[in-house]
Amino acid sequence: MKKKFYITTPIYYPNAFPHIGSVYSTLLADIIARYKRLMGEEVVFLTGTDEHGQKVYEAATKAGKEPQVFVDKIAAKFESVFKQWNLSYTIFMRTTKESHKESVQKWILLLEKKGFIYKSFYQGWYCVSAEEFLLEKDCITKDASGTPISPLSGKPAIWLKQEAYFFKLSHFQEQLLSFFENHKEFIIPEERTREVINFIKEGLKDLCISRLKKDVPWGIPFPGAEDHVIYVWADALNNYITGIGYLFNQENFESTWPADIHVMAKDIFRFHAIYWLAFLMAADLPLPKHELIHGWLLVDNKKMSKSLGNVIDPEEILKTYELDTVRYYLASLSTSQDATFSHEDLEQKYQSDLVDNLSNLLQRVTILAKKKGIKDFSLSAFKQEEETILTKKKQELHAFIEKELHTTYGIHKIIQEIIIFSNGLNSYFHNQEPWKSKDNEKFKTIIYSVLEGLFAIGIYLLPIMPEKMTILFSKLSIPHHNLTFSDALKTFTFSLAENDTYLFEKKEIKKEIEIPKEAEIMTASFPSITIDEFLKSVILVGEIKRVSDIPKSDKLYLFTVDFGSEGRREIAAGIKLFYQKEELLGKKTIFSFNLAPRKLCGITSHGMTLMAKNETGKPELIIISETVINGARIG
Ligand code: MSP
Repeated sequence: MKKKFYITTPIYYPNAFPHIGSVYSTLLADIIARYKRLMGEEVVFLTGTDEHGQKVYEAATKAGKEPQVFVDKIAAKFESVFKQWNLSYTIFMRTTKESHKESVQKWILLLEKKGFIYKSFYQGWYCVSAEEFLLEKDCITKDASGTPISPLSGKPAIWLKQEAYFFKLSHFQEQLLSFFENHKEFIIPEERTREVINFIKEGLKDLCISRLKKDVPWGIPFPGAEDHVIYVWADALNNYITGIGYLFNQENFESTWPADIHVMAKDIFRFHAIYWLAFLMAADLPLPKHELIHGWLLVDNKKMSKSLGNVIDPEEILKTYELDTVRYYLASLSTSQDATFSHEDLEQKYQSDLVDNLSNLLQRVTILAKKKGIKDFSLSAFKQEEETILTKKKQELHAFIEKELHTTYGIHKIIQEIIIFSNGLNSYFHNQEPWKSKDNEKFKTIIYSVLEGLFAIGIYLLPIMPEKMTILFSKLSIPHHNLTFSDALKTFTFSLAENDTYLFEKKEIKKEIEIPKEAEIMTASFPSITIDEFLKSVILVGEIKRVSDIPKSDKLYLFTVDFGSEGRREIAAGIKLFYQKEELLGKKTIFSFNLAPRKLCGITSHGMTLMAKNETGKPELIIISETVINGARIG
């Protein structure tokens, strides 16, 4: 039997309604799941709620509700929001399910039998919010009464001394170390592997995996010790195996486990990289293949969180924007770093990528074909070099996406490459000037090539914008059921539907970003700014991989710039009069990375090349040393 592709998200605490942060992780997993289905995999996709523990118990008490009644209501809300967001999970896991509770208890008994669990005493500072005992080094900051402030939550810790059960985490120190030394591909992005290795090298202490029932009444009873409950992380992490039948539906379990990828944000990655792997090692179970760690979604440079009151409500936002627009925007944010959610940025991306680049191209082609009275387009023998180049670019894009989905799952990088391809398709259309063509065969070839490119984009963006891309297929009269990833490279007959609606409607953008004129910059005084303001500007090191001419401009070059884990982008630079292409190729320099995209001479620049003038007034590239990695942030 072929193993299923198994992907998971964290299971979320149902102490409050979901915000866009929990939707974000689930969306990333959804997109990967949809790509894998397109590629022919049978996908098991688990998400859900982590319903036990002190934090949830306190929230229920505060609300004056029985914990079970309280979590039932919030879990239902999670499900309805996830459905509204078109998140295609196959399992909504809840840790209050009987099957989960029984399996976790059996797992404890198994580990006890193997000698990995023992009884002793625990005392120490405990962070209620993070449900974790603090390490010595975490207890440095104290409040006026001398109580340590937890660096995990920013709140005062509490002192706990109790009889407890321990898991022999220290026993797995060497095994974990050797695993990470030999599996650099396990954590994505790979840079974080070092962090884990250093943590393990500091020495792993045994882990307390029980709480006294009198302190935490809301948990799975510890088997054989009625006055204890199982520590919420030992309960929760196991959901990834109990959710697919561990110790009660072995057949299902074996066709699904190990997970191919666990998705989560960096806050809980240590639990997954260390405790979870050690738990699995102790139970003699195979280890997952990857853990994808993304950054936080920030608002005003702060982590979005209920306590800071800066959360974006996932239901509210859909009253302002269409679902697929927000899905696209979130998916385009870098997964490897924290990313700021901004309405302005969302609207800019909508305009430049979806309206200008995609929707307008489809509309122009449709209008042109209608004028000529031609509806159906299929592959013709007439092919020039330009069409061959286009096909080659498509094949490269196809291979790139496939590789990403087998290695580092860089969804934002996939989007960037699709946009580069779609820019190329726009340029092809402009340069070929089919509206001038007297030759019908040539006209048909040009339109066919554009439609073929748009169709491929439709497949590549289908996992990200499932509803919109289905509309795109219907505009081309291609039935969308049973489409596969490899169809993007096949030939079809496209029949343009009689339908004048735009795929993405042009929206009024609130304001154009004004670029101050040079003279103003020179004469302006420089008012001081705060560090927060400074940090809003993201300046990254990038390597110029390709330099192209822009047909309508004698001043601009278009660079394809590699930003390492941030992917590649196309950025214009007004230095054609000063530099030969060869002088620029392969150079590392600095770019403004989060400047809103700008249209210049028919192309869109996704950032700005930062330069300084020399004494003759020539703009010079700021050359960065070879040893600096692509994508490194200046600051
Ligand atoms: N219940 C634990 C996880 C147990 S998994 C076995 C937990 N729950 S949580 O509700 O706090 O969810 C944390 C996760 O929610 C993060 O790891 C991330 O996936 C997601 N996010 C919560 N806030 C987020 C942002 N502001 N930005 C990005 N992701 C966010 O920890």
